[in-house]
Amino acid sequence: MSKSEISIPAFDIKQQYASIQAEVSAAVLEVLASGRYIGGLVVESFERQFAAYTGVRECVACNSGTDALYLALRAFHIGKGDEVITTPFTFIATSEVISAVGAKPVFVDIDATTFNLDLQQLKAAITPKTKAIIPVHLFGQPVDMTVLMNIAQAHNLIVIEDCAQSTGASWGGQKLGSIGHIGCFSFYPTKNLGGCGDGGAIATNDPNIAAKLRLLKEHGQKTRYVYEEIGINSRLDAIQAAILQIKLRYLDIWNRQRQAIASRYQQFLSQVPGIITPKELAGGQGVWNQYTIRILDNKRDWVRAQLLERGVNTMVYYPRPLHLQPVYKSLGYRPGQLPVAEQISQEVLSLPMFPELSVEDQDWVIYSLKDCLG
Ligand SMILES: Cc1ncc(COP(=O)(O)O)c(C=O)c1O
Repeated sequence: MSKSEISIPAFDIKQQYASIQAEVSAAVLEVLASGRYIGGLVVESFERQFAAYTGVRECVACNSGTDALYLALRAFHIGKGDEVITTPFTFIATSEVISAVGAKPVFVDIDATTFNLDLQQLKAAITPKTKAIIPVHLFGQPVDMTVLMNIAQAHNLIVIEDCAQSTGASWGGQKLGSIGHIGCFSFYPTKNLGGCGDGGAIATNDPNIAAKLRLLKEHGQKTRYVYEEIGINSRLDAIQAAILQIKLRYLDIWNRQRQAIASRYQQFLSQVPGIITPKELAGGQGVWNQYTIRILDNKRDWVRAQLLERGVNTMVYYPRPLHLQPVYKSLGYRPGQLPVAEQISQEVLSLPMFPELSVEDQDWVIYSLKDCLG
């Protein structure tokens, strides 16, 4: 194959579908024939299986990871006058929901080696108004949940784990999403457990919180047409549940494939000058939703263009931290205030990462990076 014919995508969900097409098609047809498209046995059985997989008592399925986070905040009565601490280096959904419930997001800088919340700095951001922390296990790598839970317990704070990018990852042998008070998952198609549309779930060990979540996600009604609270409509439809149920059976295999790719990238890229490869914390088992390196010396965009010329597609997650987004102007953050997140956002480059990425393609990514960095 000549260089000009090579095209390696940053992610490719079609290959995964092809590998389970027969099973998925049969399950979808069964739902279609059943006439039960919203709720019902398939959704309930997925909820049970996902709860068992995550190691929690209850799972409440909903329409997206964003809704999962929103519902979690509502279930803990977080709202106007409250502060919620989170990272500025994440997808907007994490902080958007804090604002949506009327609370104030408080951004704490990140650690340059893990891209996750800097837990040393977190304590200093706690005020009498702080009600909760939303740690994000970014790119599939766990936050140190031992340290985080100690801080939270000492200050009586709720911990809402954002596991959108980390389904199947663990800390200290426990699945993420089962360690904090509540865990929120996204089944967006490119996530580790991705549906064929939107989807999300909330994991909890507290039956009262689960009941509250079910109330809120169904317009605040327990009895039909009797509304007890202002809720929303957030349902995982039966077709998605049927597909996710099949995919859940493969999740550990796919995550191991991601881990193998990450090990290879690590092995061949960690010594390349001008690159910093991601580090895993001892005590955690990550699932590599992304394999994100840092490109030093202001060369990120140049390297990205060079890779594209060689047929290697990459992504930049995230080019601008949330505290400097126009939507948060009113919070009064200034450039330079969270310097690590600001610098990292100029350096990060996510390499092709999906379970089916062939060894040949991995080699081409590695070769191309070495080639353009000399
Ligand atoms: C860290 C993080 N949180 C929350 C979400 C929101 O998930 P969804 O797209 O399912 O609403 C995402 C999705 O990209 C995410 O990456």
